[in-house]
Amino acid sequence: MPPPRLFRIPEAEGVINRMGFNNAGHDAAFERLKGLRVPAALGVNIGANKDSTDFVADYVLGVQRFADLADYLTVNVSSPNTPGLRNLQADEALRRLLGEVLSARAKARTRVPVLLKIAPDLDLAGMDAVARVILDTDLDGLIVSNTTISRDPVSGMENASETGGLSGKPLFALSTQRLAQVRQRVGSLPIVGVGGVHSPQTALAKFEAGADAIQFYSALVFGGLDLLDRVKRGLVAAVRAQGKRNISELVGTKVDDWAEGRL
Ligand SMILES: Cc1cc2nc3c(=O)[nH]c(=O)nc-3n(C[C@H](O)[C@H](O)[C@H](O)COP(=O)(O)O)c2cc1C
Repeated sequence: MPPPRLFRIPEAEGVINRMGFNNAGHDAAFERLKGLRVPAALGVNIGANKDSTDFVADYVLGVQRFADLADYLTVNVSSPNTPGLRNLQADEALRRLLGEVLSARAKARTRVPVLLKIAPDLDLAGMDAVARVILDTDLDGLIVSNTTISRDPVSGMENASETGGLSGKPLFALSTQRLAQVRQRVGSLPIVGVGGVHSPQTALAKFEAGADAIQFYSALVFGGLDLLDRVKRGLVAAVRAQGKRNISELVGTKVDDWAEGRL
């Protein structure tokens, strides 16, 4: 994609990106990550080349390259910036993709956890289909969600009509509702909640909507790296205030409210 590929929507603290997996390839990423010490978990997100004739083969190469290096792999079938990629979320295509990815994982030396990252633009039937497929596999979890192609929360604002995926604050409500709706469909399968977390309150809401862990990205543009500490301190305070010992005791306490749009 030619630049510019990244746009801020300052009014809403949103971001639109159409990066399109611009990177130097598996080998270059491997060299950079090899030997790197990370204080927590190193996740590697794998995808497919835009001009690939066989998307599934690209994911398999990603598993083979990173299985022994990453703490977990994310199978990203939800970027809106690689045409056709999101079709891999559909029934048969997803079944085939996960079949090949998980059999490549089974052949690697390490049993690296594999998570599937989905779009917030799936409707209820789309989520039903994903759940049906993944519950038949030994996938380790889901990441909900990637960016959205919808523009409802930012319509009319500066940069809102740029092509790409919308993230940050304006993604929070949709991605959190989707998270809860997915939680309703997958029992206790681990889910990472992502999308629009920008404060201790929104971080807490992800857990209440059914997330076992959270990630945030766009909010760092507006809130700086200090946000990480603020979120962690806020979560500790919320756990104490509710007389709990651990955030896991708050996981899923508001799934139905979030799923049905009452929050
Ligand atoms: C500039 C940019 C690049 C991104 N690239 C990827 C990517 O390569 N793979 C992926 O799975 N998600 C990618 N994402 C999506 C984020 O990981 C995340 O799912 C999304 O931004 C929602 O979270 P947030 O609102 O906290 O940013 C990207 C997001 C942004 C803003």
